[in-house]
Amino acid sequence: MKIIGTGSALPKKVVTNDMLSEFLDTSDEWIVPRTGIRSRHIITDEKIEDLGAKAALSALEMSGLKPEEIDYCICSNVVSEYVTPGLGCVIGAKIGLKCPCVDINCACPGFIYALDIAETHYLAGKAKNVLIICAEQPSRMCDWSDRSTCVLFGDGAGAVVLGPGENIKGIKLHSQLDSNTIWERQSLMPTPYYLGDNSAVGLQMKGREVFKFAVTASTTDVEDLLEELGMTKNDVSWYIVHQANLRIIDAIKQYMGEPDSKFPVNISDHGNSSSASCTILLDEFNRKGCFKEHDVLVFSAFGAGLLSAVAVVEW
Ligand code: ACO
Repeated sequence: MKIIGTGSALPKKVVTNDMLSEFLDTSDEWIVPRTGIRSRHIITDEKIEDLGAKAALSALEMSGLKPEEIDYCICSNVVSEYVTPGLGCVIGAKIGLKCPCVDINCACPGFIYALDIAETHYLAGKAKNVLIICAEQPSRMCDWSDRSTCVLFGDGAGAVVLGPGENIKGIKLHSQLDSNTIWERQSLMPTPYYLGDNSAVGLQMKGREVFKFAVTASTTDVEDLLEELGMTKNDVSWYIVHQANLRIIDAIKQYMGEPDSKFPVNISDHGNSSSASCTILLDEFNRKGCFKEHDVLVFSAFGAGLLSAVAVVEW
């Protein structure tokens, strides 16, 4: 497939580190050197489905396709107010899609997992034009009295339209499964029969373990896929890396021996928007005109699962 349109949408409320220190024992001085984050967009009166719809419409407009020309829609989302229908169906109804919509929850690398499904459907002859929407609101997952997690995240949506082409050169998915390093539990409706614990627990994360997993998984994924494809780092024009923490991106860059100029970043004013992060970054730099035809973009993302993934895409 080939990326023919990108879009993104952010909540209007911008929350700075100083605003967080009004109610949390934290500070700009602590957050910036450890994460690179200065501010983030946080949902107030917006709905995540409206941000997803806005991002999708903007990607469709760029692609020149109408909603009814999309054959398949994949929505990457960790939490929304809807248990059912899936968020992809809710967004699809808003923007006039006529195709099947499926949701995936692969946390931060969700965009690349969605790309893998899109390419597989395309190669099987089941879809010609695919819409991927990554719509995330991690602010609604965090315990806002827990300074070790809530300062890291921001909300937003990004979307990509894919059309026919041979521009996806390779995708590699990786897992190191455990549910103790990053996890969250929600409560379900009580029943007269259920005897288990039904209490909700906000997002939990072993920060240092996540840091190590992120750097190791990303560098290994990228090196392995480039080697499989017979490519080298010299062939890579851009690394679109999940915006989780500037120190993680810096460590990846250092390990790979690659220059700053190949790593677009927007974490300082977005925070970590889970699977939306790569698509928002892609759209922002696409709209600045950064990517030229035949540029090679390497997407790399990692997160809960623990899952990671890499994709090599020619622009
Ligand atoms: N403000 C002030 N102090 C804080 C804050 C905060 N926001 N958060 C934690 N601290 C304190 C801790 O309480 C601890 O205090 P103590 O020593 O008195 O107990 C101290 O700072 C050190 O805490 P650590 O957790 O050891 O700090 P660390 O240097 O590891 O940095 C961080 C924490 C930034 C989370 C780091 O581990 C990290 O970046 N990990 C990667 C996590 C990540 O990016 N997750 C994103 C979600 S998952 C994903 O997208 C991959």
